[in-house]
Amino acid sequence: MSSPENRDSASHPAIGSGQSRYEASVRLSVAPMMDWTDSHCRVFHRLLAPNARLYSEMVHANAVIHGDRARLLAMDPVEHPVALQLGGSEPELLAQAARIGAATGFDEINLNCGCPSDRVQAGRFGACLMREPALVAASVKAMIGSCDIPVTVKCRLGVDDDHDYGRFRAFIDEVAEAGCTMFVVHARNAWLKGLSPKENREVPPLRYDWAYRLKSERPELQVIVNGGINDADEATTHLDRVDGAMLGRAAYHDPYLLHRLDVAWFGGELRSRAELLRAYRPYVQAQLARGVYLKHIVRHVLGLFAGQHGGRAFRQVLSEGAHKPGADWSLVERALAVTESFAYDAAASIPSSATGYR
Ligand SMILES: Cc1cc2nc3c(=O)[nH]c(=O)nc-3n(C[C@H](O)[C@H](O)[C@H](O)COP(=O)(O)O)c2cc1C
Repeated sequence: MSSPENRDSASHPAIGSGQSRYEASVRLSVAPMMDWTDSHCRVFHRLLAPNARLYSEMVHANAVIHGDRARLLAMDPVEHPVALQLGGSEPELLAQAARIGAATGFDEINLNCGCPSDRVQAGRFGACLMREPALVAASVKAMIGSCDIPVTVKCRLGVDDDHDYGRFRAFIDEVAEAGCTMFVVHARNAWLKGLSPKENREVPPLRYDWAYRLKSERPELQVIVNGGINDADEATTHLDRVDGAMLGRAAYHDPYLLHRLDVAWFGGELRSRAELLRAYRPYVQAQLARGVYLKHIVRHVLGLFAGQHGGRAFRQVLSEGAHKPGADWSLVERALAVTESFAYDAAASIPSSATGYR
């Protein structure tokens, strides 16, 4: 019987072929996501996608300078290449934070010009910076002057009802003039009034054509498209028009997608979900030995079997057991065993209700 992995391979000739179809310069990225892309998560994503560029959660420049750096800038050496995303709008502070980020070992500093939350607006950074290209340019220039790693920008197309492509390109041009050569374009506007951050990732319409047009008019810039990319074929389609794709929610909720994309774009053999998860074991055990609770680590793997027989059981076993005192790797093995028995039952056509997990 053909497994879902095999079916995917059949529908996409490059997947699982062991050969790269794309140039090494193509960029596969996992989006910065607050509360999600912490160091535990990035280590897991690195196992799945050895060639992806990973991004930290956004950290405000002030927090980098004055806060608990050991926690805020926590990073494991296996994460490379990994970018630190900064929030802020004061060039001097951003420069100082960028210098600290580079000294900590990050490979790239990314400036957030896309977050629409009220708190971020009150601090005059994030998406509202789309209206202040001169300030963004000054910030980028100061950051470039303070560190020797690339400084990049993640932005929207515009804010509110500003749908003027010329203004978007003028923003990019001014920031590029300051030395930024790579832009991640979340290809929709941010609406600063009336929408929550979650709605701001769903309601404003996507316009990938602006990112494509930017790349065709400014071929010297690296343009990475982001927003609403849900599967491997969709991500791959963008490579005809831009330099890469950044995936956020889809990568988090269905992390195996990252593995399939990494293999499709950069080559290598497709590994099974269970094998990839077991490769995470030494890291997890080292963290447990340091006193980290299992629940803080395994929350990032819950989607590994998304869409698979037993995927819900996998989530259930981990979610119910990981917070219990003394929870350790054996819980992960139990979740895998239950999931594997589901796949077996499905192959033998035993209804899931008969096994107790629904
Ligand atoms: C839980 C969550 C937290 C996010 N935090 C950040 C952040 O810290 N910085 C940022 O630039 N974008 C943040 N985003 C936006 C994502 O980086 C991305 O631009 C957005 O989700 C659209 O991509 P997607 O459709 O692939 O998810 C966040 C998104 C989510 C779902």
